[in-house]
Amino acid sequence: MFKRELQKEIENIKNNNLYRFLRKKDNTNNILDFSSNDYLCLSKHPEVIDAVKDGLKYGFGSTGSRLTSGDINHQILEEKIAEFKGTEGALVYSTGYATNVGVISSLCKKGDLILSDKLNHASIIDGCRLSKSDVLIYNHCDVNHLRDLIEENGNNYNNLFIITDGVFSMDGDIAPLDKLKKIADEYNGILIIDDAHGTGVLGNGRGTLKHFNLKPSDNIIQIGTLSKAVGGLGGFVCGIEELIEYLINTSRSFIYSTSLPPCVVSGCIKSLELMERGDLTKKLQKNIKTANKIFKEYNFIKEDNLTPIYPLIFKEKTMEISENLIKNNIFCVGIRYPTVPKGLERLRVSINIGHSEGDFGVLCECIKKVLN
Ligand SMILES: Cc1ncc(COP(=O)(O)O)c(C=O)c1O
Repeated sequence: MFKRELQKEIENIKNNNLYRFLRKKDNTNNILDFSSNDYLCLSKHPEVIDAVKDGLKYGFGSTGSRLTSGDINHQILEEKIAEFKGTEGALVYSTGYATNVGVISSLCKKGDLILSDKLNHASIIDGCRLSKSDVLIYNHCDVNHLRDLIEENGNNYNNLFIITDGVFSMDGDIAPLDKLKKIADEYNGILIIDDAHGTGVLGNGRGTLKHFNLKPSDNIIQIGTLSKAVGGLGGFVCGIEELIEYLINTSRSFIYSTSLPPCVVSGCIKSLELMERGDLTKKLQKNIKTANKIFKEYNFIKEDNLTPIYPLIFKEKTMEISENLIKNNIFCVGIRYPTVPKGLERLRVSINIGHSEGDFGVLCECIKKVLN
């Protein structure tokens, strides 16, 4: 009975053209990869690999949650992150997803109001769902809509949280943090920024807050991931000391989950050391300029990008283009509904410091062939 139910559901998904399946990636250098979030190519950096090997001296797994036997080299990483982000403290979780879910559900309570950008990442949405707060969605990056919602609804709540991606994962655009911070200050609210795609990319690598020249403050909480520009795995939150102390005591995805393997932690520490120098982020910014030039020549974008994520909207042609790219050893996945709205199906091209101008040309030519 259960089996038949599942078969019916799967059939439904297929009929709606929404079927997802796993596709093994050749992770050697034989493919041109425009799908990864490894913006600074740190996942394969020799010094990072050496650091991971060295971390194996602690054993493979961490053997427990941070509050039991799993607190090994994790505090060194947290000090590094706090220093990098200029905050009083930081706390590491096992993924970025677990960080958003664990931080939001722990901080936002019954009697609070969350205002969340319409295009926020799924892990923010799930964190909001798990919280006991009321949630209102404001139109993407629309500070006037946000203000209207607060004016209309904000009075009857204890705390007000504004939550946004720093750099939006599917569009590569940047949240107006300067304006959001102003609104948070004005209404005595707290601004939570998920800078998964801003860290290592903007603000000399320090992230989107730094990009706007904003300083960390009591009412700003920065979340990030160690799985994108840092090239490893894990997530983190940073802010004031009391925030960290509170989360250690209340955040369920932190408390009730085994901590990261120490070798992963060692690799992340090395990645951050390399990121601190700033040259990798400069290289990425240079490559973004080159990609802007080539993508404009092919008419795939109109305006310059500031981040390495390019949403090339090809609508119903998207999946055909993506398949053809894969046939040509170019890995670049198509993104469709429900990850992005209907009619905005796209190739999510993400570039990194390993790409050359020639690589951008090869990608564009291959796309053009399907379009013509
Ligand atoms: C904006 C954003 N937040 C959080 C996450 C989750 O991070 P992780 O992959 O480390 O779980 C992602 C990853 O896709 C993301 O794009």
